[in-house]
Amino acid sequence: MDKTKRSAVIAGNWKMNMTPSQTGAFIKELAPKVAGLDGCKVVLCVPYVDIAAAVEAAKGTNIEIGAENVHWAEKGAYTGEISGAMLSECGVKYVIVGHSERRQYFGETDVTVNERVKAGLSNGLKVILCVGETLTEREQGVTYETVARQTKIALLGVSADELKNVIIAYEPVWAIGTGKTATAEQAEEVCAQIRGVIADIYCEACAEATTIQYGGSMNAKNAAELLSMKNIDGGLIGGASLKSDDFTVIVKAAQ
Ligand code: PGA
Repeated sequence: MDKTKRSAVIAGNWKMNMTPSQTGAFIKELAPKVAGLDGCKVVLCVPYVDIAAAVEAAKGTNIEIGAENVHWAEKGAYTGEISGAMLSECGVKYVIVGHSERRQYFGETDVTVNERVKAGLSNGLKVILCVGETLTEREQGVTYETVARQTKIALLGVSADELKNVIIAYEPVWAIGTGKTATAEQAEEVCAQIRGVIADIYCEACAEATTIQYGGSMNAKNAAELLSMKNIDGGLIGGASLKSDDFTVIVKAAQ
């Protein structure tokens, strides 16, 4: 398994945190700390209302901006939703789809995740597709079945060419925001299994070229060990992405 065949991506997922003015200030503080760290891509996925401030503050830096969701329709009667065209016109380059908090609190299903993945891709966005098992699923021994199902359905109708713009984030639900990180071995095992699923539905070379992140309480202390695993190509970072020093340590660990 050759890690040089794919790009490392460290992405922050701010969730429902930061106002536009806090966003501008945060990125101005972070930018000099991560400047020149070109061994991985540095992405911040921010709330919709913070996008304009984030894109402005990130101009001329190595930080790219992402959104936290995208609707599947081009436009129409979907009160409160945001389309892919709206995001790309605002300068957004990445979008998170299928985060477990969306699945858990907002009725997101494998099928709607698939629709959103396709909408992101067709609007030129790079999609960070989140998959991961709950504690019950892990305890019942169906972790593999769960992530395989989520991955396969999310990628229905996505071509091998489009797959180049998909990053998969393995995020065990029990590790998100809980301070309980998967061990490096647990994370590596499932990331390798997800790569196997990609090989099955596309091809070996496609799997080798796909960036797979780990997410779930990744922080300044545990990032280096997780990122040293051969199937872990980056991280999707919640809490620690809200602190510029901690986020910088994680970006450095991915170099
Ligand atoms: P966490 O969140 O790092 O705060 O656990 C990760 C995520 O939900 O993407």
